[in-house]
Amino acid sequence: MTVRIFIPRDSAALAVGAERVVKAFETEIAARTLDVEIVRNGSRGLHWLEVLVEVETPHGRVAYGPVAPKDVSGLLDAGLLEGRDHPLGHGRTKAIPLLERQTRLTFARCGIIDPLSLEDYKAHAGLTGLEKAVKLTGADIIKEVTDSGLRGRGGAGFPTGIKWKTVHDAAGPQKYIVCNADEGDSATFADRMIMEGDPFVLIEGMAIAGLAVGATKGYIYTRSEYPNAILIMREAIEIARRAGVLGPSVLGSGKAFDMELRVGAGAYVCGEETALLNSLEGKRGIVRAKPPLPALEGFLGKPTVVNNVISLASVPVILDRGAAFYRDFGMGRSRGTIPIQIAGNVKNGGLFEVAFGLTLGEIVNEIGGGTATGRPVKAVQVGGPLGAYFPVSLFDTPFDYESFAARDGLIGHAGITVFDDTADMLAQARFAFEFCAVESCGKCTPCRIGSTRGVETIDKISQGIEPEKNLALVADLSNTMKFGSLCALGGFTPYPVMSAINHFPDDFRPAATLQAAE
Ligand SMILES: Cc1cc2nc3c(=O)[nH]c(=O)nc-3n(C[C@H](O)[C@H](O)[C@H](O)COP(=O)(O)O)c2cc1C
Ligand code: SF4
Repeated sequence: MTVRIFIPRDSAALAVGAERVVKAFETEIAARTLDVEIVRNGSRGLHWLEVLVEVETPHGRVAYGPVAPKDVSGLLDAGLLEGRDHPLGHGRTKAIPLLERQTRLTFARCGIIDPLSLEDYKAHAGLTGLEKAVKLTGADIIKEVTDSGLRGRGGAGFPTGIKWKTVHDAAGPQKYIVCNADEGDSATFADRMIMEGDPFVLIEGMAIAGLAVGATKGYIYTRSEYPNAILIMREAIEIARRAGVLGPSVLGSGKAFDMELRVGAGAYVCGEETALLNSLEGKRGIVRAKPPLPALEGFLGKPTVVNNVISLASVPVILDRGAAFYRDFGMGRSRGTIPIQIAGNVKNGGLFEVAFGLTLGEIVNEIGGGTATGRPVKAVQVGGPLGAYFPVSLFDTPFDYESFAARDGLIGHAGITVFDDTADMLAQARFAFEFCAVESCGKCTPCRIGSTRGVETIDKISQGIEPEKNLALVADLSNTMKFGSLCALGGFTPYPVMSAINHFPDDFRPAATLQAAE
């Protein structure tokens, strides 16, 4: 009987040599004339175990990792094909503690199926949400999404159902679904993992969105830095089209929806929805003033839903299992699950999908396992480059939108970057201003000019030049940027800057800075 082994084809595994591991297995399989099929799956999100090789046994899949090409022969000698023990073995994949502790709703199939097998997708409850949706009216679909409590996972946490209703109610024969797959935040890779590990769930989510609001065309906008995701996603769209999941009659319903993927050059601001729409239209990626909202005048001036990959990929399970099932997870106004991405100086980097509500301390220490260097944690930045730095004293903050906002932070796209006690928070504050200066679209003055003045002022503090006066100037400048910027790039840069100053004042004191300068 053919034995199936699984070796991921997603970027995280490829980056640490998955192709070479595949080659090593192929060589050994041929030399030993073994009956083995290699399936290229997506990632389980346990990045510290990549390349994670799994074998299908009568007791479920058994995992080995991190596997390098040199390990392959020894693994086969030790009985990998029967799931036997080995120093790189982790036993049954399902029972790996950091996988077992997750609630995988959006990522339920990621790492399990062959991403480009529609059969595999269907065999794992794929398309059941869309099958239900084609029988519903747009208003009924929107009610389900609204009742689920789903909020946008791209950053702002805006209720998805309300956005869809605005587009549904907008006048006009042509409407669009635009999937924001720009994923520019530091420490984030959830969108990429979905596109590479379970692309049909995104296609299904977009098709449901199209049926809900009356849009017949969708676009995925991603960046050129995601070549692997682009390849897989485009192939998946072709497969879905050939199978009648997309096209003039979605699943034979008589309702049309089709889509394509567009690639941007990769600018942080092109993740902002209006800059994204400009880029998608072939224009310079510059932010548009709101109103009009994209929901009313979006792509080519038509009513447009702009949603993040994870928001859209969470819709199929909501339609399939029902709004009540989904909203049962979470806390407060943050319902459902959130794929937390843990990176930086951390032992167990990767993706952890869980209901809202774990504390930051649990995420960093228990899930992340503390720092990779073994030194004490000093700070974690939550929510990408515009997110606040949290000190250990705030590790009791529950991971939900309101709790983070109450502590002058944001969840953003749920990326967490961990820093140990060697981090220089003045350098981090400077970096925030510098990032803003480099990535600014230049449309408004507080961001375009303020960010550069911010870098200069932080430099003065680091040189011990009138530190108190310059710290006050940074606070004043931050206030102007926060309230005077047109979009959140300039408007949120004060979060990392001021949190670094407020939580780590010692790093900004003249003595420390003078010493550092010497
Ligand atoms: C500077 C900037 C960058 C952004 N980058 C992204 C991004 O990469 N991906 C994303 O989904 N949203 C990003 N957003 C948020 C989008 O503007 C928008 O709120 C989001 O795509 C809406 O989808 P959602 O409601 O599903 O979250 C960014 C916003 C700003 C201000
Ligand atoms: S805040 Fe910055 S990125 Fe946003 S519109 Fe103004 S200049 Fe452009």
